Amino acid sequence: MYSDLVMEHFLNPRNVGEVEDPDGVGEIGNPVCGDVMRLTIKVEDGRIADVKFKTFGCGAAVATSSMVTEMVMGKTVDEALDVSNKVVAEALGGLPPAKMHCSNLAADALHQAIDDYRERRGAAAPGTRAASQAHAEAGSLGCCDEDAACTLALPGREAHPKAPSS
Ligand code: FES
Repeated sequence: MYSDLVMEHFLNPRNVGEVEDPDGVGEIGNPVCGDVMRLTIKVEDGRIADVKFKTFGCGAAVATSSMVTEMVMGKTVDEALDVSNKVVAEALGGLPPAKMHCSNLAADALHQAIDDYRERRGAAAPGTRAASQAHAEAGSLGCCDEDAACTLALPGREAHPKAPSS
């Protein structure tokens, strides 16, 4: 039923755990079965320097998670985004059709961790956590009113005139 490689990764999963002080976190639940995966990444110079996972799931979920961490280690974040559930399943020598949904867990958690990393770096649109954080920091300096006017330029938005002080 499972390839030797799936069994090998299931029995000896790589990179299990949690990266300390991660730059990005992805946590995904599988709607089909209710299993959950958490993946954390450390990024240095645009490359994934460390990646770890914790999976509360089946053998296929553990094997695909393990394989994802091996596939993206050392890759740029853009290259890592090309790792889809299909690519992971192929790298493992295939999964039984009834188990293909399990590979979504790892790929989706990876993509979410990269999105989170980009948000934290401020590469996301206004309304994201990075934008809110920038506003909060600017607000503490007395130069930002998120609801009115702001001199702060954020990704996707020009700086606009400072609100008149009252
Ligand atoms: Fe839930 Fe495989 S059965 S991830």
